[in-house]
Amino acid sequence: MAKHPGMRPLGGGGIASPRPEAMARPFLRALRAKRGRDMKIAIIGAMEPEVELLRERLQYVRVGTYGRRDYYEGMLEGAPVVLAACGIGKVSAAVCAQTLIDRFAPTHLIFTGIAGSLDARIDIGDMVVSTDCVQHDFNVGEFGYPNGQIPGYDTLGFEADAGLRKLAVEATRAVSPDISVFEGRVASGDQFVSSSAQKEFIATTFSALCCEMEGAAVAQVAYLNELPFVVLRAISDKADGLAGVDYPNFEVIASHQGADVVSEMCRRLAAG
Ligand code: ADE
Repeated sequence: MAKHPGMRPLGGGGIASPRPEAMARPFLRALRAKRGRDMKIAIIGAMEPEVELLRERLQYVRVGTYGRRDYYEGMLEGAPVVLAACGIGKVSAAVCAQTLIDRFAPTHLIFTGIAGSLDARIDIGDMVVSTDCVQHDFNVGEFGYPNGQIPGYDTLGFEADAGLRKLAVEATRAVSPDISVFEGRVASGDQFVSSSAQKEFIATTFSALCCEMEGAAVAQVAYLNELPFVVLRAISDKADGLAGVDYPNFEVIASHQGADVVSEMCRRLAAG
């Protein structure tokens, strides 16, 4: 049985011990999740404000610190969850996702955050649910690979789980009926996109709906571990010359939006 020496209670009552790594086997995990048994939902946000709002809603919380990051286990809307702020960028996101998988054996993975719109139809305040995720700054073109293609992988984009996508769309419509929801490709890279030229490159090369800095890394880790995932992104800016101004103005609203949608997804998953 894997122990979690870093775990300490935050008060509020008991919670079952984390399960052994052996249970992380993809097939068994999928079967159990399907039957609603041993469900555990991993939730990642890039930044503290996004995660803070969800943490406030957790019951029976206990925290573990691994790799200088805090991981919060508890119940959210009746669902067992483990929650973390991964920090900015693809490496931070990948490390956090793999740590969650190795230490907590989740059955589902939800990433929530904000993004820049790459599509004129998608406005600030709208929501994007990932169909798949690509790394827009990955380039081995010198050896004949298309932009974004990682050698050795049988796919360019890492596909989100159909069930989680549907749930995310329905949850968004339920909690924010006034918001437009779009399903499409999310493009990730280690750069804040704030020029029309860069925006144009990403939009046309990848046919992506929005750009951000973590989703494809989490998606790649989920793919390697055969874990169902979805990325939710509330649009904070248009990835153009005004992005640096729009982003801070919208961050708080978007964080609330994301927290409400994730909570509703957990409620629905717990209800079966
Ligand atoms: N997250 C929110 N807006 C973004 C942008 N314009 N570029 C990258 N990440 C973002």
